[in-house]
Amino acid sequence: MNRKAHWERIYKDKLPTEVSWYQTEPELSLALIGRTGVGPTAPVIDVGGGASVLVDRLLAAGFANLAVLDISGSAIEHARTRLGQLADRVEWYEADVTAFAPPHPFQLWHDRAVFHFLTDKEDRKRYVGTLKEALVPDGHVIIAAFAIGGPRKCSGLEIVQYDAARLCEELGGEFELLEAHDEMHITPGHAEQKFSFFRLMRKGR
Ligand SMILES: C[S@@+](CC[C@H](N)C(=O)[O-])C[C@H]1O[C@@H](n2cnc3c(N)ncnc32)[C@H](O)[C@@H]1O
Repeated sequence: MNRKAHWERIYKDKLPTEVSWYQTEPELSLALIGRTGVGPTAPVIDVGGGASVLVDRLLAAGFANLAVLDISGSAIEHARTRLGQLADRVEWYEADVTAFAPPHPFQLWHDRAVFHFLTDKEDRKRYVGTLKEALVPDGHVIIAAFAIGGPRKCSGLEIVQYDAARLCEELGGEFELLEAHDEMHITPGHAEQKFSFFRLMRKGR
């Protein structure tokens, strides 16, 4: 099954609250976004945002230039339905991040549990290419992935586990790591999943 078909099936078979990565509150993401210091007019993109409520919380915090990208149209539909009229304030992109042409620059790139699915080196290169095309100089990056010693699979797919060194090697020398944190995520089925969150900044050009 191809990548898009896989994710469309997941979001058709399960409620957003039933998927293993579901969070009632994306607390660490919000804390890290806060620490970037970006203001409410900053263009922000949640890559592989799925049906996450991060976009709801950022709208509530006053962010006015939000974008959500996901390969699954069903995931986006869940989020849009939940938001109702507020959804019109968000840019929605149904796209594969490895083949996405950013329509405008972003100041902040957030990705929780998407990059780690790219087990193919060429896909990771394409992801980093999209990131570099999308992000302004001095832009901020937050990436969360399964930690070393965490799960080996997610949603039935192989993943790559990350620590700071491995992530920095993949992203290349243009990005400076500012902080890293581990978080034990508890799935709706009460399983523990060790994540690592990384906050980086692009070195100004
Ligand atoms: C594990 S879920 C995480 C969702 C969300 N970030 C969260 O924290 O709740 C991974 C998400 O990435 C999306 N995804 C997977 N591969 C992708 C790709 N190549 N391009 C864009 N989205 C992708 C999936 O549809 C899914 O919504």
